[in-house]
Amino acid sequence: MIAVVFSSLLAGLLALLLYQRMAYPFLWVDLIYYFKLRGYRKTLQARMQKGIVTYLDCFLYQAKTNPNKPFIIFENRTLTYQVVDRRSNKFANAFRTEGSLKQRDIVALGMFNEPDFICVWLGLCKLGCEVAFLNVNIKAKSLLHCLQSCGAKTLVVGAELVQLVEEVLPALKDNMTVWVVDHTSPSEDFSSLLDKLEHVSGEPLSDPPKVDIMSNFLFIFTSGTTGLSKAARVGHLKAIMSMAFLQMCGATSDDIIYITLPLYHMSASLLGIGGCIHLGATCVLKKKFSASQFWKDCVKHNVTVVQYIGELCRYLVNHPTVPEEKAHSVRLAAGSGLRSDVWMEFVKRFGKVKIREGYGLTEASIGFLNYTDEVGAIGRASYFNKVQSLSMPFQLLRYDPQTYEPVRTDSGRCIQAQIGEAGILVAPLTAMNQFLGYAGNNILSEKKLLRNVFKAGDVYFNTGDLLLHDYRDFLYFRDRIGDTFRWKGENVSTTEVSDVLGLLDFIQEANVYGVTIPGYEGRAGMAAIVLKPAHKLNGTKLYNHVVKTLPAYAWPWFLRIQTSLDVTETFKQQKVKLVQEGFNPDVTQDPLYFLDVSKKDYVYLTLTLYQDIVSGKTHL
Ligand SMILES: *[C@@H]1O[C@H](CO)[C@@H](O)[C@H](O)[C@H]1NC(C)=O
Ligand SMILES: *[C@@H]1O[C@H](CO)[C@@H](O)[C@H](O)[C@H]1NC(C)=O
Ligand SMILES: *[C@@H]1O[C@H](CO)[C@@H](O)[C@H](O)[C@H]1NC(C)=O
Ligand SMILES: *[C@@H]1O[C@H](CO)[C@@H](O)[C@H](O)[C@H]1NC(C)=O
Ligand SMILES: *[C@@H]1O[C@H](CO)[C@@H](O)[C@H](O)[C@H]1NC(C)=O
Ligand SMILES: *[C@@H]1O[C@H](CO)[C@@H](O)[C@H](O)[C@H]1NC(C)=O
Repeated sequence: MIAVVFSSLLAGLLALLLYQRMAYPFLWVDLIYYFKLRGYRKTLQARMQKGIVTYLDCFLYQAKTNPNKPFIIFENRTLTYQVVDRRSNKFANAFRTEGSLKQRDIVALGMFNEPDFICVWLGLCKLGCEVAFLNVNIKAKSLLHCLQSCGAKTLVVGAELVQLVEEVLPALKDNMTVWVVDHTSPSEDFSSLLDKLEHVSGEPLSDPPKVDIMSNFLFIFTSGTTGLSKAARVGHLKAIMSMAFLQMCGATSDDIIYITLPLYHMSASLLGIGGCIHLGATCVLKKKFSASQFWKDCVKHNVTVVQYIGELCRYLVNHPTVPEEKAHSVRLAAGSGLRSDVWMEFVKRFGKVKIREGYGLTEASIGFLNYTDEVGAIGRASYFNKVQSLSMPFQLLRYDPQTYEPVRTDSGRCIQAQIGEAGILVAPLTAMNQFLGYAGNNILSEKKLLRNVFKAGDVYFNTGDLLLHDYRDFLYFRDRIGDTFRWKGENVSTTEVSDVLGLLDFIQEANVYGVTIPGYEGRAGMAAIVLKPAHKLNGTKLYNHVVKTLPAYAWPWFLRIQTSLDVTETFKQQKVKLVQEGFNPDVTQDPLYFLDVSKKDYVYLTLTLYQDIVSGKTHL
């Protein structure tokens, strides 16, 4: 009798398991992630009860509990949590006594990656100042724009930036106090900072400011697709939530985390350094990413976790083999923007490294994490993720392919995109999900918002990204709006085309866009290409590859061979310029090629051929 009950129980259990596997194959990974998020929220709540609610609190907590743990390893120096704490106290005291800085003052910080970037920043946090991170590669004109748009009255720069600041000094002089992180000052326009540290105390401020966690923490300049950069406000809440990133990816306090990305970007300062502080882990900080040093550094410092962006991985796989690339103990790579072709090459070459791909934005609190092993997916949209208050709520909206505006019904409401249909990713604004806007630009801020989306009065942040939610609840990144063009009545995804081009052995980098031709609707595909060192363009091979792998409407009709893609900023910015220059041989010195179907080859684009195309004599 018992045996019968038992066996039918077993059969029932088996049926249940089978059902679960078929109907909900990702139940376990979803659940595990859900419990991780819940665990994280519990930790956060427990810490909040102890008064640890901000990025700075979190750092102070580690400095108190793990004072002697190495925090930053930089070149041949190791700074413990306590050392960084004391040094940032000194900066705070120096800024207060010598610079009269106080809570709410906005301070622009322009430094290359080095420990004092973090010490100065934390020092300013201790005073309650809002720090604006400057891109160290900017030119004088943008520097002036950045300073004015965020409203900073104090500027702190590293010694390398003195020359740049001198260019804009005449325009700033009366309004700006300028500090240089050095022992001496280059001229009377600058105040030196490091010599002041000798005379001030390393003790904490006696009266630390009270911080409103709903207020602004940082300004980060985002490089929009056009025009000058915008100062996005990053709130305290967003900062503390970002600190969970590395933990969610599976990093622990024992990890040694290698950070080569510039600290003025949110990924490095909030996800990377913040993630490291959250865990109480050690960070190996690099002044600048170097493909040749990357694996050597990883071996030298026993690095276990690396943080990446897509471009960085591409540089690594394009770099000649070094013995260290297989001898390291890196087990996890966490970041965003990795394309599938590079990813495959990455794991093939560099051994068993787990990749955790995330998606996040500077301006709003929305993020996904690729926590399954599905190639190409950026995250999950399962039931558990949606009900979680910590994971960020979102919607995908149906949009008009011509204008990229959400489609509205007769009553003015938006429509949810269906499963399997790409939609615009939007996130409701709530107390936990703030959008603090861009400094000094209300019109721009308002443009990122959608109102009356599902009901009167609701407000959503429009990410401008197209995502697809498939029937298994995976989310796929489809396009950043503007990264598609239309040709012969079809949509061409530029990322898809550059992925395909990137598979060829002689192509190092491909930037794909559409150019207009008189007499044609839409835009014809064009690719700016950088060849690998010591490689030549093989037109027939490229032709065959393109024809074999891409539909005719997506073929790049024009090529532009560049010696390097301008790496100062993102691909997006250069694209605008490339599109404007088009395929006119009179406008650029770069060699241009044209896809000649009759010759089954890419042929040199002469001025005569250009004129034939423009006049319609040669057809596409
Ligand atoms: C660290 O390296 C710098 C130059 O790279 C050198 O001047 C300094 O003496 C070194 N410090 C130690 C402790 O080795
Ligand atoms: C300096 O401040 C004045 C008044 O606050 C303002 O009108 C002017 O635009 C500022 N100049 C610069 C270069 O920021
Ligand atoms: C790296 O690990 C090895 C063996 O575990 C150890 O001997 C070495 O001291 C470590 N190096 C550093 C820089 O921590
Ligand atoms: C997500 O992670 C899996 C396994 O780590 C990987 O195969 C896949 O390529 C990742 N997705 C992206 C978009 O990187
Ligand atoms: C182009 O893309 C939009 C949005 O995904 C879609 O609605 C439209 O049908 C597509 N057009 C073609 C021809 O595929
Ligand atoms: C171009 O590629 C084709 C096919 O891969 C090869 O047969 C040919 O030799 C190559 N031409 C040159 C000039 O390298």
